[in-house]
Amino acid sequence: MPEPGSHSSPIITAEQVSMVFGSGSTEVRALDRVELRIPRGRWTSIMGQSGSGKTTLLHCLSGLATPTSGTVTLQGRRPVTISSLSENRRAKLRRTRLSVIFQDFNLVPILSVRDNITLPLRLAHQKMNKQWFREVTETLQIDNRLRHLPHELSGGQRQRAAIARAMISKPDVLVADEPTGSLDSVTSDAVGDLFRMVVDSFGQTLIFVTHDREAALRGDLLVTMRDGRITGVEDLYR
Ligand SMILES: Nc1ncnc2c1ncn2[C@@H]1O[C@H](COP(=O)(O)OP(=O)(O)O)[C@@H](O)[C@H]1O
Ligand SMILES: [Mg+2]
Repeated sequence: MPEPGSHSSPIITAEQVSMVFGSGSTEVRALDRVELRIPRGRWTSIMGQSGSGKTTLLHCLSGLATPTSGTVTLQGRRPVTISSLSENRRAKLRRTRLSVIFQDFNLVPILSVRDNITLPLRLAHQKMNKQWFREVTETLQIDNRLRHLPHELSGGQRQRAAIARAMISKPDVLVADEPTGSLDSVTSDAVGDLFRMVVDSFGQTLIFVTHDREAALRGDLLVTMRDGRITGVEDLYR
């Protein structure tokens, strides 16, 4: 049996990653020597109960936080040790190579959908590739709402705008924390379809955190967490 996830080379590796919050009697070990390989071009689901360390792990993998110990590496021709970068360098990396979709979508209320989607490019002083913009907005079916403001959209449309914004810079890795958490099951299925399409048609690497088993099973690799540890890695790739 090959090791789960070994059907494609890793794009992010975590070695002996631990995260400790507080000290003494209030110490919480949110991550305990986590070892993980995120396969390139696939959907990795990270599943576990509330408090199991999913968000903390996601923050470490995406450079939103640095672990107390251990290393996180963005693999490539020139590997980057994310866990030892300064806050500035990590912020830069998140604008260009690692895109995070937050649970509440974080759309800017006073900006149109179009301006929300292109915001990361403006922040990174990057030129917009019009064809890519068209491709992403058409694929995500948000192209007919570009002039609207976020509050004029349905929950599902806001979700699609947030995914489009996360994809506009062609990130190496798309990271989503409980993106279906606040959605009903029909909308949640539709978001699953969107992520599947993004992974299958664009070869996008996705890390998807959820406590919902059904949503997690849409992925290619299922990582299960408990008490800050990885308790299982299962290959779902067909
Ligand atoms: N900033 C923090 N300060 C103190 N404890 C934290 C902090 N962030 C998370 N924790 C604790 O770490 C553990 C894991 O939290 P988290 O990663 O948010 O879990 P999950 O996303 O799986 O619900 C929890 O016990 C939580 O209370
Ligand atoms: Mg969480």
